[in-house]
Amino acid sequence: MDKPKVVLGVSGGIAAYKACELLRRFTESGHGVRVVPTASALHFVGAATWSALSGNPVATEVWDDVHQVPHVRIGQHADLVVVAPATADMLAKAAHGLADDLLTNTLLTARCPVVFAPAMHTEMWEHPATQDNVATLRRRGAVVIEPAVGRLTGVDTGKGRLPDPAEIFEVCRRVLARGVTEPDLRGRHVVVSAGGTREPLDPVRFLGNRSSGKQGYALARTAAARGARVTLVSANAGLPDPAGVDVVRVGTAVQLREAVLKAAADADAVVMAAAVADFRPAVYATGKIKKRDGQDPDPIVLVRNPDILAEISADRARPGQVVVGFAAETDDVLANGRAKLARKGCDLLVVNEVGEARTFGSEENEAVVLGADGSETPVPHGPKEALADTVWDLVVRRLA
Ligand code: PMT
Repeated sequence: MDKPKVVLGVSGGIAAYKACELLRRFTESGHGVRVVPTASALHFVGAATWSALSGNPVATEVWDDVHQVPHVRIGQHADLVVVAPATADMLAKAAHGLADDLLTNTLLTARCPVVFAPAMHTEMWEHPATQDNVATLRRRGAVVIEPAVGRLTGVDTGKGRLPDPAEIFEVCRRVLARGVTEPDLRGRHVVVSAGGTREPLDPVRFLGNRSSGKQGYALARTAAARGARVTLVSANAGLPDPAGVDVVRVGTAVQLREAVLKAAADADAVVMAAAVADFRPAVYATGKIKKRDGQDPDPIVLVRNPDILAEISADRARPGQVVVGFAAETDDVLANGRAKLARKGCDLLVVNEVGEARTFGSEENEAVVLGADGSETPVPHGPKEALADTVWDLVVRRLA
């Protein structure tokens, strides 16, 4: 099989240096990469670096090797075009179809999926002109990754930072794997919960579970790659933020409920992959619980936590909202899953078997997705992202 052909467009922002790391990830994973920097990008990172790292010639203008018609061929032959960083100027040119250098010509001739990873100062990102351009590009089918929040050039902080190159690579990998030019979650807001809640006993100890957050993060990452605006409510996961995803960190089930309900108010779909504690200690000891010589420990009294999935299923924040739950079962997996689907009232329930060394923390999963309409979709053992994509396929069908 031919290597997937990626065009890495680089426009003139300080984050251009981070595109070297993105380029390295593409080449090391067997992609053929043609880097097309703008003239401004070369002020930050020179052509020699791009050429050495990609193993390909580098041009910015349409006047080199004219006999090969590069302004048309590079875009025509690409499997994916990713522009990282995409400046406000580049987004404007792309939205308005300007074509005054090799990268903008390439964007006009490409018929493959296109991903933009914007990076700029917060004011430029928030400006209505930029927001209109982003909306236009998304409407036409491009995936525009939301910038991260954090330190910008100089002393400024805010939204506008280029997401971690490893996470931009993950978005591109998902887009390439699906190979579709129409992101089917475009214009949708989805909420995903991930990780495991921790219910504190005292300042030192908590009741928790084995969830790593990987399944929920895979759902968030794949939804972003399919064009959704994603809010990820993350409980104690300790994983890197997926590119373009709005991450809300929580600790306990009660905090998770509050964050999910808030985000769900305008969501098209809510997917509850978090392992939520059904109970919490009735009393929180403000000082560390001490062991006392010769005395048995006090029993831990538990009280019920709210059932968030049942609550959002029963009281949908908007008509047509699709609600998906997960069922983590150790025995009678399918029978328990079916009973749980009926009890919780959600539209889909992803039933997966768990154990000390099964599913939790693993890169892979295997499940049956039960539908309230009686459907059953088995998902064979494979990466958690494959299960995530199946879940989104089923959600998209219900949203339509
Ligand atoms: O995070 P990983 O290591 O990748 O592992 C993934 C996973 C095993 C955690 C995930 O695939 C999974 O199964 N998540 C759901 C775990 C769980 O809490 O299952 P449950 O059967 O106890 O709960 C059923 C559903 O109700 C879940 O959607 C849960 O989020 C929700 N729930 C549970 C209790 C509660 N009080 N409120 C809830 O909303």
